[in-house]
Amino acid sequence: MHSAALLAGIATLAAGAAFAQTEVKIAYALAPDSHYGVAAQKWQDTVEAETDGKFTFRHFPSSALGGEREVIEGLQLGTVEATIVSTGTLSNFVPDTGVTDIPFLFRSLEHARHVLDGPIGQEILAKFDDAGLVAVAWGEQGFRHITNNRNPIETPEDLAGMKLRTMENPVHLAAFNALGAAPTPMAWPEVIGALQQGTIDGQENPLSVIVSAKLNEVQKYLTLSGHVYSPAMLLISKPFWEGLSDEDKAAFMDGAVQGAAAMRGFVDDVETSGVETLKERGMEVNTLSAEQKAAFRASVESAYEEYYDIYGKDLIDRISATE
Ligand code: PAF
Repeated sequence: MHSAALLAGIATLAAGAAFAQTEVKIAYALAPDSHYGVAAQKWQDTVEAETDGKFTFRHFPSSALGGEREVIEGLQLGTVEATIVSTGTLSNFVPDTGVTDIPFLFRSLEHARHVLDGPIGQEILAKFDDAGLVAVAWGEQGFRHITNNRNPIETPEDLAGMKLRTMENPVHLAAFNALGAAPTPMAWPEVIGALQQGTIDGQENPLSVIVSAKLNEVQKYLTLSGHVYSPAMLLISKPFWEGLSDEDKAAFMDGAVQGAAAMRGFVDDVETSGVETLKERGMEVNTLSAEQKAAFRASVESAYEEYYDIYGKDLIDRISATE
């Protein structure tokens, strides 16, 4: 080859290398127009803007890479770079996360956000390092409510023997056992099919999920029980993280914080509009009064003994005492 052509070829290759983009595979359980999709898009936009397009994001929404447990394992292995997940299976990786799943512990979204953004939440995020994961920010789903096809729920007795899908989460399992239901832990990708086939009667999730996943198509009754707050977490694969420069790490951190804020904004909106949307789509909705809710709280009291043993009464009291 002529030397000028050779030099031109080398220059083109070098330029190509300089502009090579690194692909970030980001996986989550719900559709792109859900609170997860909105957070993932904000994360992407921020990283792209702050790194001059050095990274390109490829989204895997709607459990395209499997359930949340498989995705987290993918992060540990380095086959998936980023995810946004519920706390459903997180306590299987970092047991202390389970304290955030205790029913009737958080009083409001504001209370939960203060705890998670404060020292307790940050201490839990830091523990993910030992599990080969980088937990960058707390996102949110909202308070969980019960949907089912059997009957409206007004008292714990209305749940008796109900085949209710729970997340694969021992804290939730203990609570629904205490309430007298027949809880069935199940990964999210199987839930809609199981509801369609009638192998389970119901499930519980926040309005953000019930609306985004159109659970009204497979569920008749919605009870606004608000029995437990449901956080989400934005995580990065440790092998991927360790290959990033300090500037890139800062961009991913900032992107996660902004993604989490967008997720909370989505939840604030759906908490206002979601019930009307679901009524328009044909769901029968009832709201537990303060008195009715107190009866549910009293029924899970026995599970609290278990929670004190696992997480320590001090920590649980510290969370309750946070303003
Ligand atoms: O119920 C669950 O498993 C979670 O809330 C979901 C729907 C996967 C969102 O993370």
